[in-house]
Amino acid sequence: MQKIISLAKRRGFIFPSSEIYGGFGSCYDYGPLGVEMKNNIKVAWRKEMLQLQNDIVGLDAAILMSPKIWEASGHLTAGFADELVECKKCHHRFRKDFLEKEVCPDCKGELTSPRKFNLMMKTHIGPVEEDSSISYLRAETCQGIYVNFLNVLDSSRKKIPFGIAQVGKSFRNEITPGNFTYRTREFEQMEMQWFCNPKDADKFFDYWKEQRMNWYLKLGINKDNIRFSETKKEDLAHYAKKAADIEYKFPFGWKEIEGVHHRGDWDLSNHSKYSGQDLSYLDEETKEKYFPYIIETSAGADRTMLAFLIDAFREVEGGRSEESSKESETMLALDKALSPIKVAVFPLMKNKPELVAKAKEVYSLLKSHFMCQYDETGSIGRRYRRQDEIGTVFCITIDFDTLEKGEVTLRDRDTMQQEKVNIKDLLSTLRGKFEN
Ligand code: GAP
Repeated sequence: MQKIISLAKRRGFIFPSSEIYGGFGSCYDYGPLGVEMKNNIKVAWRKEMLQLQNDIVGLDAAILMSPKIWEASGHLTAGFADELVECKKCHHRFRKDFLEKEVCPDCKGELTSPRKFNLMMKTHIGPVEEDSSISYLRAETCQGIYVNFLNVLDSSRKKIPFGIAQVGKSFRNEITPGNFTYRTREFEQMEMQWFCNPKDADKFFDYWKEQRMNWYLKLGINKDNIRFSETKKEDLAHYAKKAADIEYKFPFGWKEIEGVHHRGDWDLSNHSKYSGQDLSYLDEETKEKYFPYIIETSAGADRTMLAFLIDAFREVEGGRSEESSKESETMLALDKALSPIKVAVFPLMKNKPELVAKAKEVYSLLKSHFMCQYDETGSIGRRYRRQDEIGTVFCITIDFDTLEKGEVTLRDRDTMQQEKVNIKDLLSTLRGKFEN
């Protein structure tokens, strides 16, 4: 983990938040490369869940919503609370279910008896801080989907079964955030809610489990590092009839990165009761009227990104090639779709104006098609290593052959193989490689 955290900071993937003020309790900022990579994860998720699947539409609901939603959803009651214990000696606080022993892990002091701690983040709307102005930052994006069920149904003319997908920030006042970006108080979720006839819910639960696992495998996660874990009945969230977690083998153990939940009619029936609006569905053909059951897939963009980073991290003692500086070299073997930079362009030497001009011309040609980087400092070997370390898929070198014959050297990150490509074929060659 230390190696990942240090690479993330050094190369501009993830910074501790508010660092010049000494940091701010488990909050993180995504730097120039991190913001690209996280965005690529969200794009890949939207492609899978909106573009490639049938009958799923998008939504972007507000973070601040009527507080009544959180009453109806069960989040303001005991259902969305963790058990908190405090050490009587050092006053450190812990989640009871995270403790292995009944004593304080820091000073072995005695612990208080547990009390429920609600995880909703409270705020006030408007200038007066009184009870009637209390609102909450959403704790899960899906509630915005349930309360828009009728709007989407009416405007998109969808019929059951169909899904609504959304990516956005969620907030939880976690008692024990930690493990870098694994558990934070502000995080991003990628959630899809599938509305179906109750009799089909079990079938769709299995279908979505398989689809979601395949997404991680398609994006290159090693199959030995990912698994399902079926949630035991007594551990189910307050809304779930059954649930399966997708877990990744982090350096700190097997941990959840995504949950697939069978939520039954919990959400639509409760929102009907609390809002007074009928959210049941009438099947025009069969004349059957029912509350659709919901199968939810709920992934965290931050946790997923941490898993992709860890899975792609390679460290090669003595370097990757003959010309390497015999030190250890790191590389990120990220899937092409997730790499923050797709192509880097180098002039062989920076003190030859004709090479620099040609390299800038190639960079301009490519940058409207791929996220590119231009780099002219240091030896070519050093520039390759810098790009390997951030997972850049291809490097292109402009040398004297380019000036004479129009050919550039295209180097593949994973195989380190180099091939000559004519500038006039460069775009189609790269497109072909990215589509593969
Ligand atoms: N709507 C259902 C729901 O929110 P969850 O299992 O509580 O289910 C789903 O959360 C996903 O959201 C988790 O698998 C994780 O990826 C992400 N997530 C939840 N809490 C998080 C936190 N404190 N920090 C980072 N990611 C979190």
